[in-house]
Amino acid sequence: MKISIKDLVESVKEKLAFPKIAMRILRLFEEDDISVYQLAKIVSLDPILAAYILKVANSAFYNFSGKVKTLSDAITLIGFEEVKKIVIMVSAKNAFKVSDEMDRILWEHSLAVAVASSVINQQTRITDDGVAYIAGLLHDIGKIVFKKNEDMEYAPLLNEAYYEGKQAKELEEERYGYNHADVGGYLLQEWNFDQEIIDAVSFHHLNFTLKKTSDFLKKAALVNVADFVVNNYLAIGKAQKIDDFGALFELGAAKVIGFNQTDLALMIEDIQTKFEALREAMKEESE
Ligand SMILES: [Fe+2]
Ligand SMILES: [Fe+2]
Repeated sequence: MKISIKDLVESVKEKLAFPKIAMRILRLFEEDDISVYQLAKIVSLDPILAAYILKVANSAFYNFSGKVKTLSDAITLIGFEEVKKIVIMVSAKNAFKVSDEMDRILWEHSLAVAVASSVINQQTRITDDGVAYIAGLLHDIGKIVFKKNEDMEYAPLLNEAYYEGKQAKELEEERYGYNHADVGGYLLQEWNFDQEIIDAVSFHHLNFTLKKTSDFLKKAALVNVADFVVNNYLAIGKAQKIDDFGALFELGAAKVIGFNQTDLALMIEDIQTKFEALREAMKEESE
């Protein structure tokens, strides 16, 4: 069955709605003089979101364990930018809603790539931390779109990619004529995300070479490197780990962003620890 990207995104829009309250909060961030009080007030309209913000702020991810009692504490201690990340994370968790094993893998992969993008960005200084983090978190959201439309019969394709170490992107292009990066970029446009996030997501599977080094491609290259690290060295998103650290430095995207971290083992450990803290904090009580 051939269906256009537009019709595909349209067909799952209801199931994938970005919470209205989150949209309002994100709009609020665009204003210059937003106050702690204003933000706390609007967040408190959504008790689930408020609870997550407190939980994540008190988690091992930050070093305030137990000290964050109110939303105002959370905002003043971890800061506006971190609160913004949590708002998007809670909204994304909603979209990624786990109903099978592959959903769980996709969600954990997304969290890990968000953390990895942010960690690698600290070294390479490609963009703002928030952009790196959010682009990493949402880079594979197109896979969720494919999966939510049952007519696409996407689950076997995902399994093939996961267990046989194939590229989902290639299997998708063969089968549908476009890939999850195209679909994800389209969805984020519909959701009115910033252009730099849309670009980073849309191009994260480009064949990167040093000749293509414009700024918007660098952000996509950053996500590509983070994705590679998470898939191959942490095996979150791929069934099989590899041990060869050299492979990372051969990667076109790594050259594009000037990646030269020498202590890879330490960096991988850092990503793993932060990812685990976040995964714990983002769990629902019933999970
Ligand atoms: Fe991807
Ligand atoms: Fe990915």
